[in-house]
Amino acid sequence: MLRGKHIVIGVTGGIAAYKAVYLLRHLQEEGAEVRVTMTPAATRFVGVETFAALTRHEVPIRIFPDPTDSISDNWTRHIQWAEWADMIVVAPCTANSLAKIVHGLSDSMLMATILAARCPVLVCPTMDGEMYQAPATRANLQQAKELGFHLMEPESGYLASGLHGPGRLPEPEVITGQIRSLLESAEQHAEKSPEASPKLLQGKRILVTCGATREFLDPVRFLSNPSTGKMGMAMADAAASFGAEVTLLHADSVDTSRLPGSIELIPFTTSDDLFNHVRSRADADVIIMTAAVSDFRPVQRHKQKVKKESAKLELPLEQTPDILQWLGDRRSGRPGEQVLVGFAMETEDLAGRAREKRIRKGVDWMVGNDLSDDNSGFAVDTNSVLLIGPHSENRFKGTKVDVARGVLQHIFVS
Ligand code: CTP
Repeated sequence: MLRGKHIVIGVTGGIAAYKAVYLLRHLQEEGAEVRVTMTPAATRFVGVETFAALTRHEVPIRIFPDPTDSISDNWTRHIQWAEWADMIVVAPCTANSLAKIVHGLSDSMLMATILAARCPVLVCPTMDGEMYQAPATRANLQQAKELGFHLMEPESGYLASGLHGPGRLPEPEVITGQIRSLLESAEQHAEKSPEASPKLLQGKRILVTCGATREFLDPVRFLSNPSTGKMGMAMADAAASFGAEVTLLHADSVDTSRLPGSIELIPFTTSDDLFNHVRSRADADVIIMTAAVSDFRPVQRHKQKVKKESAKLELPLEQTPDILQWLGDRRSGRPGEQVLVGFAMETEDLAGRAREKRIRKGVDWMVGNDLSDDNSGFAVDTNSVLLIGPHSENRFKGTKVDVARGVLQHIFVS
């Protein structure tokens, strides 16, 4: 997968800089051609010579070549490097470098290259836990996401400061895996929809639902499922990045703090709550039902906690309203007026079941979620889906955000 790919590693001044050496070797072993640029602070942790010897290439630090350099005409190196790269990976990325990336500073070769880049940029924030949790860093991370940078969550563990917490650079093989999937999905996008733009969905009102409903038996117990709402949030995020006016109906357990402020957020708890919200917004141009709606609920919801001694060990259940089915029925006879997208989580016969559900529920597109794939399902950041439409079936794989972008581009460009 990485054979022949051009990857620039940007090393910034953190203690994990030494791990960039292993990352470089990993990428080379997979066939990638790698170049390294370091910030001035990074050179205090690892020598330029280490990277130069391993890449067999110069390791620029400043934008301008040294006046004593024999090559004096390469003052546009940062543009050339940005054009050369299929991907830029900033690993480790300190809080300082993150802030510079987000604010478009170009005071080093790395920052200028990032600013000039049109390829995907993967940022691996790595710092002490307190710095990572600081409001300024959180805001920068949020903004980095909104600007389209790909972020890799740091791992938690023992930090150089002696404290425990989030902030460690993930292992080189984990970063390599992420690079692979980002490049794969970038290729898919390029093939399928070269003309997708930030204006793709401008003027469209899009309603997205996400997360797990809770069906209460009494005030302290409920039926639910493990959905964390990540795929729905990715759909909302992608739709907003394509210019849509987005409302996200989200389970109140879902952490929406990293979503762009332009998305209207409305929480729900039960399937009935969700149904009421959907009903009052059912005239949206596009409705994407990513929510994991419970199919059953207890027939009786007790006002007080059911005590152990008095509990019958049987729980009579009834079906919840099928919201997507209601939307499909409501729109029947008026195709083309609204786009309906459903999600189907399956553990077997994904294609067959998702096809059947698309027809049965009367929707335009069904996104089949392949739970047999290790990289998809609840709570993880990646996904593997089969998009089933009226005339086509396509597979999308990668981070949930990339899958969401791919799915929307496919639906609205084709
Ligand atoms: N859905 C819904 N209301 C429900 C159940 C599901 O709107 N009560 C929607 C989901 O949001 C999803 C789609 O229907 O977009 C498919 O959900 P899924 O659970 O896979 O299908 P079910 O119809 O519930 O069928 P089954 O559980 O038997 O697979």
